[in-house]
Amino acid sequence: MTESENVKWHHAKVTKEQRRHLNKHKSAVVWFTGLSGSGKSTISVELEKELHHLGVRTYCLDGDNIRHGLNKDLGFRPDDRKENIRRIGEVSKLMVEAGLVVLAAFISPYRADRNEIRKRMDDGEFIEVFVNAKIETCESRDPKGLYKKARAGEVKEFTGIDAPYEAPLNPECIVNTDKQSVEESVQTIMSYLKAEGYLE
Ligand code: ADX
Repeated sequence: MTESENVKWHHAKVTKEQRRHLNKHKSAVVWFTGLSGSGKSTISVELEKELHHLGVRTYCLDGDNIRHGLNKDLGFRPDDRKENIRRIGEVSKLMVEAGLVVLAAFISPYRADRNEIRKRMDDGEFIEVFVNAKIETCESRDPKGLYKKARAGEVKEFTGIDAPYEAPLNPECIVNTDKQSVEESVQTIMSYLKAEGYLE
């Protein structure tokens, strides 16, 4: 559904498959979801480094960064989060069309919003990674001091405190950052990507 009438789709003369062929690997989005402080950004940055060394064309999209630009008009109310994730889903889809392996690190707390992106992509293009850590662990890390502020009522609707987080039911990968090191988490995802033929 679109708000605009009289718009039509223009087909490119270079296809996604041709771009992939040139890059010598498949394209997809590795979608990290989890609580603030669970390790999404840290793992995605390390995974990108490793993929880049292997000659994979990558791009990282990160919640905090995107909210400085493209989505600076959005806050943290449920509708704003939904729109945040919808836009990033569309940006990811374009980048997958462009032949890249996208690493997207967003709390993305609503299962329905993540599933919408999965539906917009072709099979195998949406790799959901659940970055699983107990809230106590995330709160003890509190890299930006936001849990402290949320507990004090200075930040409202904070995920895990007074806003919900819906864990994935069937993610492609789970990393347990309570127990696994960053390197182990990266290797869990690398093993998945290799086993599923993304890096050939
Ligand atoms: S999402 O819920 O819409 O997916 P996103 O990943 O873009 O969130 O942004 C999360 C980051 O914004 C957190 O890591 C944190 O630094 C910051 N933040 C500020 N306010 C909140 C809040 N109320 N809830 C969660 N994160 C917040």
